[in-house]
Amino acid sequence: MIMRSVTIRVPATTANLGPGFDAFGCALQLYTDVTFEETESGLQITGCDEAFAGPDNLAYVSYCAVLESLNEEIKGVKIHIDAHIPICRGLGSSAALLVAGAMGANVLRGNRLSTQGLLNITNAMEGHPDNLGPAFFGGLTASMVDNGLPVTVSFPLHSDWEILALVPDFDMPTPKARAVLPQQVSREDAIYNISHGAMVLKALELGDEKLLRHAMQDKLHQPYRKHMIADYEAIEELVRTNGAAFCLSGAGPTLLCITRNKALKEKLQKKLPAITEANWEIMPLHVEFAGARVL
Ligand code: HSE
Repeated sequence: MIMRSVTIRVPATTANLGPGFDAFGCALQLYTDVTFEETESGLQITGCDEAFAGPDNLAYVSYCAVLESLNEEIKGVKIHIDAHIPICRGLGSSAALLVAGAMGANVLRGNRLSTQGLLNITNAMEGHPDNLGPAFFGGLTASMVDNGLPVTVSFPLHSDWEILALVPDFDMPTPKARAVLPQQVSREDAIYNISHGAMVLKALELGDEKLLRHAMQDKLHQPYRKHMIADYEAIEELVRTNGAAFCLSGAGPTLLCITRNKALKEKLQKKLPAITEANWEIMPLHVEFAGARVL
């Protein structure tokens, strides 16, 4: 059956999880739905700010990239974006558009590419697979790029974790957050991240909050990025003194708390306004195990 229209649902993703810079990621139950309807000619994008409604829209860029790789003609398309993932906040909004475009084009052309094939194409555009991996496959993942090709594997997660995303009322474009990072790192810092990263995955599997709190620390990106977020250190101290693990979500500015303490949200709600300058929305988010799918 030839389909003319399809809607793809893609989960939000939190990348890095502290030391797993450009490697770890986890899908969350917050979604962007994108509908693609083939037309005879032209491009029409609705549901987003006019500034993003042109041919640079990532959903359209990856849609075209997949059609090209299938040697299919790019005719017209109407794209409607229903985004619940906040934009430029470190929750994988760009990766969600890339994944939606790639899956949308593939479904409309008879699903001839595998999910790995779509990951290869989108990773060539994004440059790092840490959001793309969990957006495609769901759950907790680690990804690497080997000989230019992304490889993503899944890890088990204890079922008792509470994940709180603290989403501020300002954004942080990823290129800006990557521009502050050094080109070279010391051997000491590299060892710190490799060892802490391995512990993060084990702590998440075991549900070991104390191990996670110690392991979820980083020397490769957070020390350079935290100065761009005025409230970072005050919030980190509040979260850690309440026993939870803390990190920047992706490139920020969202901050992530992972805990087994069911009362943490209420505590943060009471104490955050007194120690912060921005408005921080506290979003409790569950892990999404399913990954991107056709609605
Ligand atoms: N790993 C990426 C970063 C995630 O921290 O820059 C944002 O795309």
